Amino acid sequence: MKVFVTGGAGYIGSHTLVQLLAAGHDVCVFDNYCNSSPVALARVRQLTNRDVAMVEGDIRDADALTAALVDFAPDAVIHFAGLKAVGESNEKPLLYYQTNVTGSTNLLAAMDAANCRRIVFSSSATVYGEAQYLPFDEEHPIGPTNPYGRTKAMVEGIISDWARATPDASAVLLRYFNPVGAHESGRIGEDPQGIPNNLMPFVAQVAVGRRAKLSIFGDDYDTRDGTGERDYIHVVDLADAHLAALDYTGRAMGCEAINVGTGQGVTVSELVVAYRRASGRPIPLEIVPRRPGDVARSYAATAKAEKLLHWRAALDVDAMCASSWRWQSDNPQGYPMAGEV
Ligand code: NAD
Ligand code: WQD
Repeated sequence: MKVFVTGGAGYIGSHTLVQLLAAGHDVCVFDNYCNSSPVALARVRQLTNRDVAMVEGDIRDADALTAALVDFAPDAVIHFAGLKAVGESNEKPLLYYQTNVTGSTNLLAAMDAANCRRIVFSSSATVYGEAQYLPFDEEHPIGPTNPYGRTKAMVEGIISDWARATPDASAVLLRYFNPVGAHESGRIGEDPQGIPNNLMPFVAQVAVGRRAKLSIFGDDYDTRDGTGERDYIHVVDLADAHLAALDYTGRAMGCEAINVGTGQGVTVSELVVAYRRASGRPIPLEIVPRRPGDVARSYAATAKAEKLLHWRAALDVDAMCASSWRWQSDNPQGYPMAGEV
């Protein structure tokens, strides 16, 4: 199958490319590298011994996006491209709406022009907001609490409306919980710019000596040990879920939101212990006040993914930490300059 992958050079996109190529699909990536490196694609080519077509472009540029889609004529699209930093979305909301929302309407219009009716979209568990009950199932009310989350909720609605209005359209909105880890080779992984916002890359950078200590944001939550509890999902499992979702779009019409998580909550303290075990490094830490906007607990109901996609997570927290550490210790400063591989 021919799959057009926006944001394919990024963290989750690059891992998904490896699986798509290994499964024999032909891919074309559309990415402006605003939060990624061409080296990631070079390494994907190396890992898979397959070529990856690449168009450097911005999803806000409707003409460029349409031209790329019409030219490639894909059977399906996976839409990763977007901005994802919650804090930045509070400071630059219009940038987030333009990139995530307008970029997505541009993509759907380009798909119409290219006569492509299958899409898998990167949504987020952040659309649920504050838990009214746990685990979060897909029927839980939507209530995002920041501009980033609102862009995801809006795009879910737009894709759902598009699918309803488009004969034979099929869309899957994957609501990722907390993606972590790396490809087992250690050749591709998460390479955040500046100070990591998320827990796992921060822990990895402390372990490798790039940062002095981890700040744990609060130890007075109503959880087993007082630290925040999340559903961490191995990025390789997440990549598999995209292939399962692509298959699903080939056999069912309409639009479905589907959680992608393990169903298991892991606390910050538990994750640090697992990372110490995986890395053999001490990981100094301090407890600091809660981060505004954080919830105590978040984890997925997984029954819908199992039922519709025939997919469930296979990799545990130890595998997440071990693969993250392999990537981080082999690439302490992240990807090298473009041109190197
Ligand atoms: P990432 O930043 O590594 O990847 C996003 C990719 O999109 C990057 O390669 C970036 O260069 C590209 N991009 C951004 N704006 C673009 C634009 N205007 N035009 C073209 N390309 C553009 O992020 P990721 O972690 O791989 O996330 C992928 C998707 O999954 C995003 O939509 C994100 O919101 C969503 N998501 C991520 C997480 C997470 O914790 N990583 C959780 C839930 C949902
Ligand atoms: C996890 C836990 C923190 C950093 C975010 C987005 C969400 C989604 C995934 C895109 C929490 C604690 C963190 C640190 C800490 N992204 N923590 N010290 O907040 O669950 O979700 O990423 O869609 O939208 O909001 O993930 O990794 O930031 O935090 O103690 O330095 O780690 O308080 O309990 P979060 P996270």
